[in-house]
Amino acid sequence: MRPGLGLMAAAVLVLSCAEGSCHKAPASTTAGADDDPRANVARLQRANALLQRQIDLAAGKDFYLVLDPAAGSLVLMLKGARLQQFGVRGLQVGHPRVSWVGLRDRRRIEDVIWSKGELDPPRLLDRLVIQAAPPAKEGAEQTGKEAEPTPPPVPPTPEELYPVPSRYHIRFADGLSMEVRPREADTTVIQNAGGLPLPTELDGRFVDKFLYTEQERDKARKTMQASCRRCHDSSWVDGHWERFMNTIQHTNGATLAATQLMQDIWKRDLAQNHTKGGNPFDEFIEKVWSDVWLFYANTIRFSSAMGGGGDYSVFADGKYHLSRAVREMEDWLKARKTGTEKPPAKKK
Ligand code: HEC
Repeated sequence: MRPGLGLMAAAVLVLSCAEGSCHKAPASTTAGADDDPRANVARLQRANALLQRQIDLAAGKDFYLVLDPAAGSLVLMLKGARLQQFGVRGLQVGHPRVSWVGLRDRRRIEDVIWSKGELDPPRLLDRLVIQAAPPAKEGAEQTGKEAEPTPPPVPPTPEELYPVPSRYHIRFADGLSMEVRPREADTTVIQNAGGLPLPTELDGRFVDKFLYTEQERDKARKTMQASCRRCHDSSWVDGHWERFMNTIQHTNGATLAATQLMQDIWKRDLAQNHTKGGNPFDEFIEKVWSDVWLFYANTIRFSSAMGGGGDYSVFADGKYHLSRAVREMEDWLKARKTGTEKPPAKKK
């Protein structure tokens, strides 16, 4: 979904999802089958009611959105005319939880018009007023004494004018709230080229398909830094960021060193990873490797991001443990390479 769509539409009509799922589905799942005339009539009645709602919306003066999960499309409409179509990457329906108890709302979200949508966070700038230069004096054209008035500036497009957060809600009057996200937010779908559920390759490259682009990251950083400047001076914020980026680089470097050792270990068959029918995360030395990035590198980053570094980033599962684990991997491999220790007995 493009973030710009929340600019004007206050009403949305959600069409029915394909059987059981709101993900993109091939058309064939809904076609066919209904030979039973009663089922056919019921289906036609539903389709009819839905068309009636679209007619109601088209009769109004306001912009509205039609969300069709099965087709993966969200269309911005005005008086029945399609103005712009947005792609929908994925759609999930959530229910609120109160004190760990799910409160399942039994109302249908499909085939219903959701109205009185409000942006959350609200849009700060309502509209831009451009004052044109006063017209030339009457008769000036004939005498040629006065120059043409300067033409008014070209107004920016809504996308240029309104800073749209990459993630926001549209809250409707009857309790439905839509959260618009720039990417598929379900991280369980992430897979790298090696088939592992990781957002990076083992050589440190990003799995771009599932992650923010450089520009999106830049935009998110600026948004966040703007929030810091409400309390801190720019030099404070920039200084913090510089140290934080340095920490990321440092921990990335250590993770890469550990991963290269791990790859060497796998190559020598001292541990079995997924390419040899094993699990890359279950043997002793693989767990030492996982500690490096999953725990120590993350803890160091956390402490740098949230506390500006300091003691925690060294002592609390931090830099001390990170370098110890890398050393341990190095020694472990060296001992097996030089034969000063017997390789682990092969399982029968
Ligand atoms: C609501 C005001 C406020 C905002 C917003 C805010 N800070 Fe702070 N920040 C503070 C205060 C107050 C302290 C001092 C807290 C203390 O020392 O107990 C502080 C402390 C810090 C420290 C020093 C931490 C340490 O232990 O040395 C850093 C670094 C910092 N902030 C960075 C940021 C960054 C980066 C952001 C934006 C992501 C941010 N702050 C947003 C108020 C704010």
